[in-house]
Amino acid sequence: MLHYTDTGSGIPVVWIHGFPLSGRIFAEQMSIKGVRHIVPDLPGFGSSPPQRDASMDSLAGEILDILDALSIEKAAFAGLSMGGYILFAIARRAPERVAAAILIDTRELPDSAEGRAGRFSMMETARTAGARQVTELMLEKMLGSGHRPATAFVREVMESATPAGIVAALQAMMDRPDSTDTLRSLRVPTIILVGDSDTITPPSDSRRMKELISGAELVVVPGASHLSNAEQPDLFNDAVERFVRERVAGSLQS
Ligand code: MLT
Repeated sequence: MLHYTDTGSGIPVVWIHGFPLSGRIFAEQMSIKGVRHIVPDLPGFGSSPPQRDASMDSLAGEILDILDALSIEKAAFAGLSMGGYILFAIARRAPERVAAAILIDTRELPDSAEGRAGRFSMMETARTAGARQVTELMLEKMLGSGHRPATAFVREVMESATPAGIVAALQAMMDRPDSTDTLRSLRVPTIILVGDSDTITPPSDSRRMKELISGAELVVVPGASHLSNAEQPDLFNDAVERFVRERVAGSLQS
Protein backbone atom coordinates (compact mmCIF):
# COMPACT_ATOMS: atom_id res chain seq x y z
CA MET A 1 0.00 0.00 0.00
CA LEU A 2 1.22 3.48 -0.79
CA HIS A 3 2.01 5.79 2.09
CA TYR A 4 -0.69 8.44 2.56
CA THR A 5 -1.94 11.02 5.00
CA ASP A 6 -5.60 11.50 5.92
CA THR A 7 -6.54 14.77 7.62
CA GLY A 8 -9.55 17.05 8.03
CA SER A 9 -13.19 16.20 7.67
CA GLY A 10 -15.82 16.73 5.01
CA ILE A 11 -15.84 15.93 1.30
CA PRO A 12 -13.05 13.43 0.57
CA VAL A 13 -10.51 14.89 -1.86
CA VAL A 14 -7.60 12.74 -3.02
CA TRP A 15 -4.61 14.93 -3.91
CA ILE A 16 -2.34 13.21 -6.45
CA HIS A 17 1.05 14.81 -6.84
CA GLY A 18 3.20 15.45 -9.92
CA PHE A 19 6.71 14.46 -10.93
CA PRO A 20 9.21 14.37 -9.18
CA LEU A 21 7.37 15.64 -6.12
CA SER A 22 5.52 14.04 -3.20
CA GLY A 23 2.27 14.61 -1.36
CA ARG A 24 3.97 17.43 0.54
CA ILE A 25 3.55 19.66 -2.52
CA PHE A 26 -0.05 20.07 -1.34
CA ALA A 27 0.96 21.32 2.14
CA GLU A 28 -0.77 24.67 1.59
CA GLN A 29 -4.00 23.03 0.45
CA MET A 30 -4.47 21.23 3.78
CA SER A 31 -6.08 24.39 5.17
CA ILE A 32 -8.98 24.18 2.68
CA LYS A 33 -12.08 23.80 4.82
CA GLY A 34 -14.90 21.29 4.46
CA VAL A 35 -12.53 18.69 2.99
CA ARG A 36 -11.10 15.37 4.15
CA HIS A 37 -7.64 15.51 2.58
CA ILE A 38 -6.25 12.17 1.46
CA VAL A 39 -2.71 12.60 0.16
CA PRO A 40 -0.74 9.64 -1.19
CA ASP A 41 2.95 9.53 -2.02
CA LEU A 42 3.47 7.80 -5.37
CA PRO A 43 6.02 4.92 -5.47
CA GLY A 44 9.60 6.12 -5.07
CA PHE A 45 8.56 9.58 -3.83
CA GLY A 46 7.97 10.89 -0.31
CA SER A 47 7.57 7.96 2.07
CA SER A 48 6.45 5.33 -0.48
CA PRO A 49 9.11 2.80 -1.51
CA PRO A 50 9.96 2.55 -5.23
CA GLN A 51 8.52 -0.14 -7.47
CA ARG A 52 10.12 -1.58 -10.54
CA ASP A 53 7.29 -1.00 -13.00
CA ALA A 54 4.37 1.34 -13.02
CA SER A 55 1.72 2.49 -15.45
CA MET A 56 -0.93 5.15 -15.07
CA ASP A 57 -3.40 2.29 -14.72
CA SER A 58 -1.45 0.48 -11.98
CA LEU A 59 -1.01 3.76 -10.11
CA ALA A 60 -4.75 4.42 -10.43
CA GLY A 61 -5.35 0.98 -8.89
CA GLU A 62 -3.07 1.80 -5.96
CA ILE A 63 -4.91 5.04 -5.26
CA LEU A 64 -8.23 3.19 -5.33
CA ASP A 65 -6.77 0.64 -2.88
CA ILE A 66 -6.30 3.49 -0.40
CA LEU A 67 -9.96 4.46 -0.75
CA ASP A 68 -10.95 0.81 -0.26
CA ALA A 69 -8.86 0.67 2.90
CA LEU A 70 -10.65 3.79 4.15
CA SER A 71 -14.08 2.44 3.07
CA ILE A 72 -14.62 5.50 0.87
CA GLU A 73 -16.79 4.66 -2.11
CA LYS A 74 -16.62 7.95 -3.96
CA ALA A 75 -14.31 10.97 -3.75
CA ALA A 76 -13.22 14.08 -5.57
CA PHE A 77 -9.81 13.66 -7.19
CA ALA A 78 -7.26 16.43 -7.63
CA GLY A 79 -4.38 15.71 -10.01
CA LEU A 80 -1.34 17.93 -10.43
CA SER A 81 0.35 17.35 -13.81
CA MET A 82 1.37 13.64 -13.69
CA GLY A 83 -1.27 13.34 -10.96
CA GLY A 84 -3.76 14.46 -13.62
CA TYR A 85 -2.63 11.63 -15.91
CA ILE A 86 -3.39 9.23 -13.02
CA LEU A 87 -6.75 10.91 -12.42
CA PHE A 88 -7.66 10.23 -16.08
CA ALA A 89 -6.75 6.55 -15.55
CA ILE A 90 -9.00 6.44 -12.46
CA ALA A 91 -11.84 7.94 -14.52
CA ARG A 92 -11.38 5.15 -17.11
CA ARG A 93 -11.03 2.36 -14.57
CA ALA A 94 -13.66 3.33 -11.99
CA PRO A 95 -15.78 6.25 -13.21
CA GLU A 96 -18.40 5.49 -10.56
CA ARG A 97 -15.91 6.44 -7.83
CA VAL A 98 -15.17 9.91 -9.21
CA ALA A 99 -17.43 12.57 -7.69
CA ALA A 100 -15.52 15.56 -9.08
CA ALA A 101 -12.27 16.41 -10.84
CA ILE A 102 -9.75 19.11 -9.97
CA LEU A 103 -7.23 19.31 -12.82
CA ILE A 104 -4.09 21.24 -11.96
CA ASP A 105 -1.44 22.24 -14.53
CA THR A 106 -1.97 19.09 -16.54
CA ARG A 107 -2.91 17.96 -20.04
CA GLU A 108 -4.85 15.17 -21.73
CA LEU A 109 -2.54 14.56 -24.70
CA PRO A 110 0.21 11.90 -24.66
CA ASP A 111 3.91 12.65 -25.18
CA SER A 112 5.14 13.81 -28.58
CA ALA A 113 8.16 12.08 -30.14
CA GLU A 114 10.29 14.92 -28.84
CA GLY A 115 8.76 14.55 -25.38
CA ARG A 116 9.57 10.83 -25.36
CA ALA A 117 13.17 11.51 -26.34
CA GLY A 118 13.40 13.93 -23.42
CA ARG A 119 12.09 11.23 -21.05
CA PHE A 120 14.79 8.79 -22.22
CA SER A 121 17.49 11.32 -21.65
CA MET A 122 16.14 12.12 -18.17
CA MET A 123 16.10 8.41 -17.31
CA GLU A 124 19.75 8.25 -18.29
CA THR A 125 20.49 11.27 -16.10
CA ALA A 126 18.70 9.62 -13.14
CA ARG A 127 20.72 6.41 -13.61
CA THR A 128 24.10 8.03 -14.12
CA ALA A 129 24.02 11.35 -12.28
CA GLY A 130 21.36 10.60 -9.64
CA ALA A 131 18.06 12.00 -8.49
CA ARG A 132 19.45 15.40 -7.49
CA GLN A 133 20.46 16.21 -11.06
CA VAL A 134 16.96 15.39 -12.32
CA THR A 135 15.23 17.41 -9.62
CA GLU A 136 17.36 20.46 -10.41
CA LEU A 137 16.47 20.13 -14.10
CA MET A 138 12.78 19.79 -13.28
CA LEU A 139 12.87 22.67 -10.83
CA GLU A 140 14.13 24.95 -13.56
CA LYS A 141 11.57 23.65 -16.07
CA MET A 142 8.77 24.10 -13.56
CA LEU A 143 9.60 27.44 -12.02
CA GLY A 144 12.14 28.99 -14.38
CA SER A 145 15.67 30.01 -13.49
CA GLY A 146 14.68 33.15 -11.56
CA HIS A 147 14.33 32.82 -7.82
CA ARG A 148 10.64 32.42 -7.22
CA PRO A 149 9.13 32.36 -3.73
CA ALA A 150 8.22 28.65 -3.98
CA THR A 151 11.69 27.49 -5.14
CA ALA A 152 13.16 26.54 -1.75
CA PHE A 153 10.01 24.68 -0.70
CA VAL A 154 9.72 22.78 -4.01
CA ARG A 155 13.41 21.79 -3.88
CA GLU A 156 12.84 20.43 -0.38
CA VAL A 157 9.78 18.45 -1.54
CA MET A 158 11.83 16.96 -4.39
CA GLU A 159 14.57 15.77 -2.04
CA SER A 160 12.75 12.51 -1.34
CA ALA A 161 12.71 11.45 -5.03
CA THR A 162 14.65 8.23 -5.66
CA PRO A 163 16.33 7.29 -8.98
CA ALA A 164 14.16 4.15 -9.21
CA GLY A 165 10.99 6.18 -8.62
CA ILE A 166 12.05 8.72 -11.22
CA VAL A 167 12.78 6.09 -13.89
CA ALA A 168 9.50 4.23 -13.28
CA ALA A 169 7.46 7.45 -13.35
CA LEU A 170 9.14 8.62 -16.58
CA GLN A 171 8.36 5.27 -18.20
CA ALA A 172 4.73 5.45 -17.04
CA MET A 173 4.35 9.01 -18.36
CA MET A 174 5.93 8.05 -21.67
CA ASP A 175 3.54 5.14 -22.11
CA ARG A 176 0.39 6.99 -21.09
CA PRO A 177 -2.51 6.97 -23.54
CA ASP A 178 -4.34 9.89 -25.09
CA SER A 179 -7.07 10.92 -22.62
CA THR A 180 -9.13 13.03 -25.02
CA ASP A 181 -12.04 10.57 -25.05
CA THR A 182 -11.83 10.16 -21.27
CA LEU A 183 -12.40 13.89 -20.86
CA ARG A 184 -15.22 13.88 -23.39
CA SER A 185 -17.04 11.27 -21.33
CA LEU A 186 -16.37 12.88 -17.93
CA ARG A 187 -19.75 13.84 -16.43
CA VAL A 188 -18.77 15.22 -13.03
CA PRO A 189 -18.19 18.75 -11.74
CA THR A 190 -14.74 19.77 -12.94
CA ILE A 191 -12.45 22.70 -12.28
CA ILE A 192 -9.23 23.24 -14.22
CA LEU A 193 -6.52 25.44 -12.70
CA VAL A 194 -3.35 26.52 -14.49
CA GLY A 195 -0.60 29.05 -13.85
CA ASP A 196 -0.64 31.88 -16.37
CA SER A 197 3.11 31.33 -16.98
CA ASP A 198 3.11 27.52 -17.02
CA THR A 199 5.43 26.45 -19.86
CA ILE A 200 5.21 22.65 -19.29
CA THR A 201 1.41 22.47 -19.58
CA PRO A 202 0.51 25.98 -20.74
CA PRO A 203 -2.92 27.63 -20.42
CA SER A 204 -3.66 26.65 -24.05
CA ASP A 205 -3.71 22.98 -22.89
CA SER A 206 -6.19 23.86 -20.16
CA ARG A 207 -8.42 25.76 -22.58
CA ARG A 208 -8.48 22.71 -24.85
CA MET A 209 -9.41 20.46 -21.90
CA LYS A 210 -12.20 22.85 -20.89
CA GLU A 211 -13.72 22.48 -24.37
CA LEU A 212 -13.70 18.68 -23.98
CA ILE A 213 -15.39 18.51 -20.57
CA SER A 214 -19.01 19.44 -20.34
CA GLY A 215 -19.59 22.20 -17.78
CA ALA A 216 -15.94 22.51 -16.75
CA GLU A 217 -14.72 25.80 -15.34
CA LEU A 218 -11.26 27.21 -15.93
CA VAL A 219 -9.21 29.33 -13.55
CA VAL A 220 -6.01 30.84 -14.92
CA VAL A 221 -3.94 31.62 -11.82
CA PRO A 222 -1.97 34.85 -12.20
CA GLY A 223 1.67 34.97 -11.13
CA ALA A 224 2.16 31.20 -11.24
CA SER A 225 3.96 28.74 -13.49
CA HIS A 226 3.66 24.92 -13.36
CA LEU A 227 2.87 24.57 -9.64
CA SER A 228 -0.03 26.98 -9.30
CA ASN A 229 -1.18 25.38 -6.01
CA ALA A 230 2.17 26.02 -4.31
CA GLU A 231 2.99 29.32 -6.00
CA GLN A 232 -0.31 31.11 -5.39
CA PRO A 233 -1.92 29.10 -2.58
CA ASP A 234 -4.40 31.79 -1.50
CA LEU A 235 -5.91 32.29 -4.96
CA PHE A 236 -5.79 28.57 -5.65
CA ASN A 237 -7.38 27.57 -2.34
CA ASP A 238 -10.17 30.15 -2.64
CA ALA A 239 -11.14 28.78 -6.05
CA VAL A 240 -11.05 25.14 -4.91
CA GLU A 241 -12.88 25.78 -1.63
CA ARG A 242 -15.67 27.56 -3.52
CA PHE A 243 -15.80 24.78 -6.13
CA VAL A 244 -16.11 22.07 -3.48
CA ARG A 245 -18.74 24.00 -1.54
CA GLU A 246 -20.86 25.04 -4.53
CA ARG A 247 -20.46 22.18 -6.98
CA VAL A 248 -19.38 19.06 -5.10
CA ALA A 249 -20.85 19.15 -1.59
CA GLY A 250 -24.45 18.71 -2.78
CA SER A 251 -23.64 15.59 -4.78
CA LEU A 252 -21.55 13.83 -2.15
CA GLN A 253 -22.10 13.22 1.53
CA SER A 254 -18.98 12.52 3.55
C1 MLT B 1 4.79 16.85 -13.71
O1 MLT B 1 4.81 17.99 -13.25
O2 MLT B 1 4.20 15.92 -13.15
C2 MLT B 1 5.52 16.59 -14.99
O3 MLT B 1 6.16 17.75 -15.40
C3 MLT B 1 4.58 16.13 -16.05
C4 MLT B 1 5.26 15.80 -17.33
O4 MLT B 1 6.47 15.87 -17.41
O5 MLT B 1 4.55 15.41 -18.29
